[in-house]
Amino acid sequence: MARKLDTLLNLREFEERAGAKLPRAAFAYFAGGACDECTLRDNLEAFQRLRLKPKVLVDVSHRDLATSVLGQKVAMPILIAPTALHRLAHPEGELATARAAGAAGTVMVLSTLATCSLEEAAKAAAGPLWFQLYVYKDRGLTKELVQRAEAAGYQALVLTVDAPLLGRREADLRRQFRLPAGTELANLRQAGLKRLPAAKGESKLAAYFASLLDPSLTWRDVEWLRSLTRLPVLVKGVLRADDAVRSVEAGAAGVIVSNHGGRQLDTVPATITVLPEIAAAVAGRAEVLLDGGIRRGTDVLKALALGAKAVLVGRPVLWGLAVGGQAGVSRVLGLLRGELDLAMALCGCPSVQAITADLIA
Ligand code: GLV
Repeated sequence: MARKLDTLLNLREFEERAGAKLPRAAFAYFAGGACDECTLRDNLEAFQRLRLKPKVLVDVSHRDLATSVLGQKVAMPILIAPTALHRLAHPEGELATARAAGAAGTVMVLSTLATCSLEEAAKAAAGPLWFQLYVYKDRGLTKELVQRAEAAGYQALVLTVDAPLLGRREADLRRQFRLPAGTELANLRQAGLKRLPAAKGESKLAAYFASLLDPSLTWRDVEWLRSLTRLPVLVKGVLRADDAVRSVEAGAAGVIVSNHGGRQLDTVPATITVLPEIAAAVAGRAEVLLDGGIRRGTDVLKALALGAKAVLVGRPVLWGLAVGGQAGVSRVLGLLRGELDLAMALCGCPSVQAITADLIA
């Protein structure tokens, strides 16, 4: 297996291999975006459009990729983004992802919609975990999820705010997306909500969102969430400077610049294009992270140069998981780490602190 994984040289090749291996419905669910997928494409292309201006004659014989996020030391500024339903990619699901994250010395953000429970993932994990939270209309259930995450040792809550309803994903509508036999929303077992509803003629996930998640969420609920927990809260799904400032005012420890991988509202901007204005507005009062379109080490470097403390990677991790389970995720993280290390060397950056905005042309 290790030898086979070594033949895949970049994240795009992992995507191709995963596409050949996964059932069509699972691949379409993971790969797809909303409507015409303009934002999905733009997330990648916006990184490719940016040009680097490297510094020469800097001693880069040693490079230090380590940093910290919310006070948590990580071996590299690359975290695992929350993505749902890992058992659609591999039988070990989130357990394998959590093990690979720990081995890479980084944080995994576990989704509310995981196919292993948050307690099972915590037991398997070798490193720090954060919990991504969807707020249910049933606030008692939401509070229980928060309390369980805290009890299981999760170190932060990531509140997703860009999904009052699920985006229009036509690949899933066409297939009437549903959970394959043997998979369940494991965090919702106790609440009796581990299956998607049996609605006809639509994506069952879209129906689940519409019936159970709370579209009435407002800024006051960020404060409500903070009152429930001693854990730091990050607001994920911010694309505007004024919303980033409101997040800080509502007590968020971090803001994640994200368009949900182009899966929610199509034609919103690529995350890297709004990062500078958001980082400037936050002005160091909270940590700014970014996801969406990271496929190369140079993408990570560009995001850090434009104000992100770290980035999160979603789909490529799923491709690694699909191709080779834990070892596949490790290889994906290793490739990205290696590419970042090389990009830092070639840009004249011996440390992540040396990655500054003047590197962008
Ligand atoms: C779930 O959060 C999804 O984007 O499918």
